[in-house]
Amino acid sequence: MGQPHQTLGEYIIENQKAFRYSSGELSRLISSIKLAAKVVNHEVNKAGLVDILGAHGETNVQGEDQQKLDVYANEVFIDTLINREIVCGIASEEEDEFITVKGHNGNHDNKYVVLMDPLDGSSNIDVNVSVGTIFSVYRRITPEGQPVELKDFLQPGNKQVAAGYIIYGTSTMLVYTTGHGVNGFTLNPAIGTYYLSHPDMKFPKTGKIYSMNEGNYVHFPKGVKNYIKYCQEEEGDRPYTSRYIGSLVSDIHRNMIKGGIYIYPKSSKVANGKLRLLYECNPMAFIVEQAGGKASDGYQRILDIEPTELHQRVPFFCGSKKMVEKAEEFMKSSV
Ligand code: AHG
Ligand code: MN
Ligand code: MN
Repeated sequence: MGQPHQTLGEYIIENQKAFRYSSGELSRLISSIKLAAKVVNHEVNKAGLVDILGAHGETNVQGEDQQKLDVYANEVFIDTLINREIVCGIASEEEDEFITVKGHNGNHDNKYVVLMDPLDGSSNIDVNVSVGTIFSVYRRITPEGQPVELKDFLQPGNKQVAAGYIIYGTSTMLVYTTGHGVNGFTLNPAIGTYYLSHPDMKFPKTGKIYSMNEGNYVHFPKGVKNYIKYCQEEEGDRPYTSRYIGSLVSDIHRNMIKGGIYIYPKSSKVANGKLRLLYECNPMAFIVEQAGGKASDGYQRILDIEPTELHQRVPFFCGSKKMVEKAEEFMKSSV
């Protein structure tokens, strides 16, 4: 439990020893993410004022339109991480291939790789709805001193050493874990400092909110359709409330505070759902589990999936433990 008014900087220094490898490198990495997030926050906040809204005119590797702020956030996070010489590689939703980063004196001695979704929920930018950033940190598996390889990025989520998200919402928050619970820090924009506002966050064991894009209902598998029916039935604490922002970070953040389940299933339109395993589902799953929640693909734990591709997609069931267990029951019993 932090003291009142503890800043993120103070918290990082105080807790550095609790990190699995406490060389200070991971602390510096989190510090650089917090800095980049401030820069992006500033830009997101003035998005309505300047000519930064709208499509950038390019499509990314997955054929999606890139928004200007997607590109901007991608550059800010990459530049900040490269300039501080603390990672050996970066993978991003907005980059087709991973980026090799050289450390001090041009060597490859740094230990960590970062995978990120620099701007999540970007289709919401034009309408002033909360967006976010998601990041995931691994210790490299190739030897230090050599350039990083694809296998450093294709590690299962259970090997993450840190993960977090930033939500650029009514207030801006950085929520992260290093495997010792989850803490949330709120930015005071007047002085540019994050304060520990949500110490030791806990996902309610159950809840009354279900979040999914029901517009895709006809394409959903039977198990998901049956679970939706269950959510809408009048029985006990049901029917549940439906809340879907369409911005993963915001939907999970709300459910983590209020209790609920988020589902992006596979469908007859998208064979593995839409969300990306490495920089959306794994980091969110790590945070959610650290807060006492559960994350699954409908059948198995997200964090135990062996990745095969950088931009791999996976069905995602994530939230209050009891609700995810119930949804899994429906998936397993309706083939
Ligand atoms: P991104 O903006 O990084 O591409 O991610 C958008 C994701 C996620 O944030 C959200 O939950 C989901 O897309 C919404 O998808 P639908 O519009 O298909 O519901
Ligand atoms: Mn995203
Ligand atoms: Mn994105």
